Amino acid sequence: MVAETHIFHIPALLKEVIGFIEPSKGKKYIDCTLGEGGLSQAIIQKGGSVLALEADPQMLPVAAQRLKESTVNAEYKLVQGNFSELTDIAKNEQFDSVDGIILDLGLSSRQLQFEQRGFTFQQNQPLDMRYDPEQLITAADILNELPQDELIDMLITYAEEERWAAKNIAKAIIANRPLVTTLDLIDSVEIAVGKRNSSRIHPATKVFMGLRIVVNADLQSLELALPQALDLLKPGGKLLVIGYQSLEDRIVKQFFKTETTDCICPTIQIECNCNHKASVKLIRKGVITPSLDEISQNPASRSAKLRIAEKLPGEAA
Ligand SMILES: C[S@@+](CC[C@H](N)C(=O)[O-])C[C@H]1O[C@@H](n2cnc3c(N)ncnc32)[C@H](O)[C@@H]1O
Repeated sequence: MVAETHIFHIPALLKEVIGFIEPSKGKKYIDCTLGEGGLSQAIIQKGGSVLALEADPQMLPVAAQRLKESTVNAEYKLVQGNFSELTDIAKNEQFDSVDGIILDLGLSSRQLQFEQRGFTFQQNQPLDMRYDPEQLITAADILNELPQDELIDMLITYAEEERWAAKNIAKAIIANRPLVTTLDLIDSVEIAVGKRNSSRIHPATKVFMGLRIVVNADLQSLELALPQALDLLKPGGKLLVIGYQSLEDRIVKQFFKTETTDCICPTIQIECNCNHKASVKLIRKGVITPSLDEISQNPASRSAKLRIAEKLPGEAA
């Protein structure tokens, strides 16, 4: 049951997303990251039909209850699944020619409140961090099994720690093995780089984020999902991605760059032979970020970056 007093996750940039996709009766959308269902709810309340995917099975009943209670005569289907398998899921549900596809990446605020999942450093919980508990590898497995040099690489690449900090953190993790709970990880980080200073963010913030990205193969899933999403859009359909950290945003930016150009030859050639054709046009150059007003009402939206592109008509067969 959803506690009646619970405040639902507030989707970032919701007004902008709805403004761009203009949902109405007869239009179909795929919400690749259902979360607590705020975005899906906004689409179906305007008459659009939604197929929504969510990797975390604990989130589905939360969203289902929210949608059921607040939306009359709505057309939607909720599926537990990973957006890396978008094509198969969409085709299975007859959502293979749609008006808009949205990925609102990362975690829902609700997942930070789950007690056994290890997403937060605010409580002592098992070091799990999987969205889908059916997945095999947990955060503890990674922390307890990776050799030191691979831990350092992981901390530099995915937690974006500086090399000196990554080395110290990896050493402290190895000295503290086996790590079982989030507190064990926080202790290791604090031994390595010092304790929280009241004016700074928690020293374990980047390590938690990087580890979650690795446990769930977030970047690989995103790289797999983007071309699938493009294929599933109608000409004129819109692809929107909201990312909250630079690694995700870099992937989206690069993908849009490739898909908006007619030539992707590595060097400029007089006669291009890459046969690549632009498949989208940007609706906005660069990123759209929340207004100061939105950030003051929903501080969790502060690092959101929205990129949006529209599918071009394909060449006549
Ligand atoms: C920021 S929340 C989405 C919030 C949502 N827009 C709302 O209005 O409540 C991101 C959600 O995406 C889910 N998620 C992350 N990666 C996923 C993936 N690869 N496939 C499916 N769902 C994923 C997370 O479990 C989380 O619930």
